[in-house]
Amino acid sequence: MRVKDFGRTGRKVSEIGFGAWAIGAAWGEVNDTDAVAALHAALDSGITFIDTADVYGDGHSERLIARAMTERGGERPFIATKAGRRLPVQSVEGFSTENLTAFIDRSLENLACDTLDLVQLHCPPTDLYYHPEVFDRLDRLVESGKIRAYGVSVERVEEALKAMEYPGVVSIQIIFNAFRQRPIERFFDIAREKNVEIIARVPLASGLLSGKFKRDTEFAANDHRLFNRNGEAFDVGETFSGVPYEVGLDAVERIRPLVSGDTTMAKFALRWILMFDAVTVAIPGARNPAQARANAEAAELPPLSPDTMQEIRGIYDTCIKPYVHQRW
Ligand SMILES: NC(=O)c1ccc[n+]([C@@H]2O[C@H](COP(=O)([O-])OP(=O)(O)OC[C@H]3O[C@@H](n4cnc5c(N)ncnc54)[C@H](OP(=O)(O)O)[C@@H]3O)[C@@H](O)[C@H]2O)c1
Repeated sequence: MRVKDFGRTGRKVSEIGFGAWAIGAAWGEVNDTDAVAALHAALDSGITFIDTADVYGDGHSERLIARAMTERGGERPFIATKAGRRLPVQSVEGFSTENLTAFIDRSLENLACDTLDLVQLHCPPTDLYYHPEVFDRLDRLVESGKIRAYGVSVERVEEALKAMEYPGVVSIQIIFNAFRQRPIERFFDIAREKNVEIIARVPLASGLLSGKFKRDTEFAANDHRLFNRNGEAFDVGETFSGVPYEVGLDAVERIRPLVSGDTTMAKFALRWILMFDAVTVAIPGARNPAQARANAEAAELPPLSPDTMQEIRGIYDTCIKPYVHQRW
């Protein structure tokens, strides 16, 4: 597993991380035993970066991570969490010093630690990026020692570009996978220039890029792949990367022949992301130890050939681009 500098934090992280949303909520039933075992499997496989949020199961994901850390003892991985989505209404005013401090104090308690490695504003309203005072508040929270660093998790490339104008922003989390290629255009270069880390989320397009779904696959009522398919609960881009399900299935069939028999489509999809040096860490979600281990193994695959990279780009341009490119 390659290890990368997490820029200005002075920490190092594995290029494959662990996305801890599914172990918290919104992905159908995941039992806690599997969830904690998945965390152990990830860390045993060399993963040293975990992404969570205070709202995943209303703190359940954070508490499961704390449980796994207690069971292991020893060195903690880099744990990134998020704040802001506990607000009943998403408004800039909600990101007050008082609210941010309360969210952070709660995450400190859930994660059973004294300082948070990284707090990311959790897809705040676009207008927030035009309010420097919010970033000043985060600077004060770093000074207070409650958080070591902060970043943002964005929906759109333009939000990322604006966020990078604030020097305290050390990382940007954004959807990036073979079905979401716009970040490559300008954002990657600028992030590199500014020494801002990129956390690639939804790397498997919510599992679509694993190639295991069919037209008649059924998702549980409490799985966002059913209840948010049209953006009913949150931004539709978070579910299957915003690609209409059937369109995604057709594109997957065009990718499948590019994947050689001794690997899986999920590992191939992750290896595609690792081809982009600007990405610091990709954070596939995993609901059990087998998935966590398989995702870590993607880092061992050889690089994809230029021809394969071009084929994937062609599939994106013809099948996917019209649905997502100018939207996020
Ligand atoms: N707004 C935000 O900031 C935000 C939004 C979304 C996600 N995130 C972060 O990004 C992380 C990753 O995104 P995501 O979880 O939404 O989507 P993802 O990583 O694209 O997909 C995860 C799903 O793919 C399936 N999967 C995982 N590994 C697999 C494997 N090896 N083989 C086959 N299937 C596999 C699992 O679902 P099944 O087994 O159920 O099919 C898993 O729950 C999240 O956990 C979270 O930390 C942040």
